Amino acid sequence: MEKTLLLLKPDAIVKGVCGQIIDRFEKRGFKIAAIKMVQLTRKQAEIHYYEHTDKPFFHELVDFITSSPLIAMVIAGENAIKASRFMMGSTNPIDAAAGTIRGDFALNIRKNIIHGSDSLISAEREIKNFFTEKELYL
Ligand code: PPS
Repeated sequence: MEKTLLLLKPDAIVKGVCGQIIDRFEKRGFKIAAIKMVQLTRKQAEIHYYEHTDKPFFHELVDFITSSPLIAMVIAGENAIKASRFMMGSTNPIDAAAGTIRGDFALNIRKNIIHGSDSLISAEREIKNFFTEKELYL
């Protein structure tokens, strides 16, 4: 069973669309293995986004993700990483197809509603930044 980390970003909570987003993953057939609401520290955000440390938008990204609480969750299922990223749509919501999460709920590259791990290696690393082994129910 493949696992991936999803973050329903601060804008998803502000907009009140978390339930609708979680519903899509459950309806698709994914199992929720872990879920919690958390206010990220800058340290935790910098670890999560360390691959982007040198990008010009890095500080903006960390400022946003630490601005208010988010929902972190691990979902499990067949091809969870690839399938969830298709469901999320393009990173820039302007390019995201209607019917995808970003295509339906977002307009702005920074406030793009959701994060999903992009590979098995990233998923393993990112899950460990949010959950202990004991918090995962598989
Ligand atoms: S890159 O350059 O292709 O590696 O970046 P990308 O994978 O498209 O995006 C990585 C994460 O950075 C966020 N992002 C931004 N945040 C703020 N401002 C700007 N301009 C910006 N561009 C990209 C993007 O939403 C990705 O966040 P996650 O949480 O991984 O989706």
